[in-house]
Amino acid sequence: MEKKAQSGQLLVLVPCPYQGTINPMLKLGTFLHSKGFSISIVHTHFNSPNPSNHPEFTFFPIPDGLTADQISSGNVVAIVFAINANCKASFKQCLTDRVTEQEPQNKITCIIYDEFMYFSESVANDLNIPRILLRTQSATNVIARNALIRLHSKGCTPFPDSMLLNSVPELHPLRFKDLPIYIFDTVENYSELLTNANNVRTSSAIIWNTLDCLEQSSLAQIKQQCQVPIFSTGPLHKASTAATSSLLEEDTSCVAWLDKQSHNSVIYVSLGSLVSISEKELAEMAWGLTKSRQPFLWVIRPGSICGSHWIELLPQGFLEAVGERSCIVKWAPQMEVLSHGAVGGFWSHCGWNSTLESISEGVPMLCRPCFTDQTVNARCVSEVWKIGIQLENELERGEIERTVKKLMVDDDGKGMRVRAKQLKEKIEVSMKGGSTYHSLNELVEFIRSF
Ligand code: UDX
Repeated sequence: MEKKAQSGQLLVLVPCPYQGTINPMLKLGTFLHSKGFSISIVHTHFNSPNPSNHPEFTFFPIPDGLTADQISSGNVVAIVFAINANCKASFKQCLTDRVTEQEPQNKITCIIYDEFMYFSESVANDLNIPRILLRTQSATNVIARNALIRLHSKGCTPFPDSMLLNSVPELHPLRFKDLPIYIFDTVENYSELLTNANNVRTSSAIIWNTLDCLEQSSLAQIKQQCQVPIFSTGPLHKASTAATSSLLEEDTSCVAWLDKQSHNSVIYVSLGSLVSISEKELAEMAWGLTKSRQPFLWVIRPGSICGSHWIELLPQGFLEAVGERSCIVKWAPQMEVLSHGAVGGFWSHCGWNSTLESISEGVPMLCRPCFTDQTVNARCVSEVWKIGIQLENELERGEIERTVKKLMVDDDGKGMRVRAKQLKEKIEVSMKGGSTYHSLNELVEFIRSF
């Protein structure tokens, strides 16, 4: 049985099964539920969200056919290809069952699917159900990835070292090294996946987790070429007060630790849900943070240090050296952390959610991107919005110490903090009657019109 909301209109949401793509989709779902829609989430067994966090939704798992080897490879490109190949039939079956079960007046109004779950579009098309695409990465990144696809098709990849620091023509300030490469698969495969994700096919509109005050020129450029309406509804994490959709358990004890720290003093360190680092990088980070003398809250995700389960490889003497000045957790309630007055900086891999969450709280960033859109986001943070510093070289403790101090205490960092607060205010305006507010309302009307 579907959980009924006032309008009786049912939306089926299909998130891509990674933390950075589940979060914005479920936030969007909570927002649409608050507007009277019933929401069903169709999801893979792999990385399935926890239904008990969202009693307002109905969850339908579908078999994804992933093998244990595919999952343990961690190759996101190969996994997403496999999901698209394997899930079409099970998704179609799931929808057909729902449609038959439902009262005729309560048919599926629309399917909203993540751009990387493009198998959903062809099923919706077969069943004649309207469909909308959700993009969860920045607009600038989509322009950058189109450039990557073009350069690849002209045989220009991989880029020679001598080109890496050159600007990409017409994409200033992006350099060739900032183009969104995926380092664990070939450019060929990644480029094919991006081409599939880029294709709007027969979808009626695009929902985009970004906003005009951050990406006006990229959005304008995309809107000029796009045949369907674009609703720039970001930052979606601010569109509703949804419960967490964390795949890992949040350790809230770090909030009590933050309560004891002084205002703007703490650097929050988290490299998101996918990045891993070597033992050597771990040691440089640990000693660099220690030498900076700033208190730090460090998320070390289990398995994110190559060759260890959790923090076994931290250098000897480190924990004694930092004592109460550091707090290490496996997973943090990130939004609560970033909105805490004690947090004055965010050392991030610059995933798009983390970037939006940091900007929304006016927290300046220390950027250490690793792959895909992270490099594009980091460049925007440091060179376009000028609210952060990028660590570009191999991690080295002395440079880390200097950069953390620059961000947290020097005049350079103070300027970044001022600009970050100004952006935070612009986002608030956008949410309260500005462009995001209007886009969200227009989206609701657009869906109601189906
Ligand atoms: C992945 C890709 O790496 C990234 O490039 C792309 O933009 C989105 O998908 P991910 O590593 O998951 O990103 O980072 P991010 O986009 O920042 O999303 C992580 C989410 O997990 C954020 O919403 C963040 O709030 C949450 N998080 C992270 C926690 O709740 N607790 C933590 O301890 C760390």
